[in-house]
Amino acid sequence: IAGLNAVAQAAGKKYFGSATDNPELTDTAYVAILSDNTQFGQLTPGNSMKWYATEPEQGTFDFTGGQQIVSLAQQNKQLMRGHNCVWYNELPSWLTSGTFNATELTSIVSTHCGTIVGHWKDSWDIINEPFNDDGTWRSDVFYNTLGSDFVSVALNAASAADPSTKLYMNDYNIENPGVKATAMQNLVKSLKSAGVKIDGIGFESHFIVGEIPADIQQNMEAFVALGVEVSITELDIRMTLPSTDALLEQQKQDYQTVISACMAVEGCAGMTIWDYTDKYSWVPSTFSGQGAACPWDENLVKKPAYDGIAAAL
Ligand code: XIL
Repeated sequence: IAGLNAVAQAAGKKYFGSATDNPELTDTAYVAILSDNTQFGQLTPGNSMKWYATEPEQGTFDFTGGQQIVSLAQQNKQLMRGHNCVWYNELPSWLTSGTFNATELTSIVSTHCGTIVGHWKDSWDIINEPFNDDGTWRSDVFYNTLGSDFVSVALNAASAADPSTKLYMNDYNIENPGVKATAMQNLVKSLKSAGVKIDGIGFESHFIVGEIPADIQQNMEAFVALGVEVSITELDIRMTLPSTDALLEQQKQDYQTVISACMAVEGCAGMTIWDYTDKYSWVPSTFSGQGAACPWDENLVKKPAYDGIAAAL
């Protein structure tokens, strides 16, 4: 049987991919599966392109961690999704504890996004998680200083640095219609009417077994109708531990449901899981008592979820 990426590409998608992270790359059994480009046609660095990692001191850029993953992807003939340029979280302390005025912060955002997008080209999550769940803007150093203008500052710098890179905005809880999805759609409309380049919207898709949003496909179509592509960027489907056969079976159906939505929408470019194995999932350390969210288990053995994905492709 062909791997997930091979089947996804044969069906017209750009890739089926996985997130990974630098500390995992010493695990040779893990890397062997990650490097199989019939399985994964795309990699996302889980952390090493974030602001704290790439610009730890103002104006001093460190590409080491990100480059390790880019080099692996190139070696494996895999695409790359850059992640991310502007996010409220995982910022260096010089940025969060500094008191920058609007002119200074505009230049800081512009330099940061221009530099990292100029360095690594492909697709990029330029704006990450800009909204609260009620659709209002998240209060962070960017919004509080620049208002919503930080979005166009970042996108314009990225597009100037590399016009061919696909520029994305990425968020969670926008997978179903609702106030947060509407806020993102309104932002797309206002950027487009202002002539700011925006190519795609990422549906993170950190879901819970048995609680998959009902209208992912319809919601993807609503975004595509605005003239952007969409991608599933961080898919995992967690459960309250311990896992049982019944939960694993439900998880299989849930993976199938989510992947089917992307497959049904021509404007859905590709799908990325937020690491392929439970061994390195972010879920247990973030959501207490939960885990087993990935299609491969902690021993790098495929779970029923894998067959759910394969069935949908
Ligand atoms: C997570 C990483 O997986 C963790 O290792 C890190 O400690 C925190 O960030 N949304 C995002 C990702 O856009 O960057 C987050 O990644 C998961 C939620």
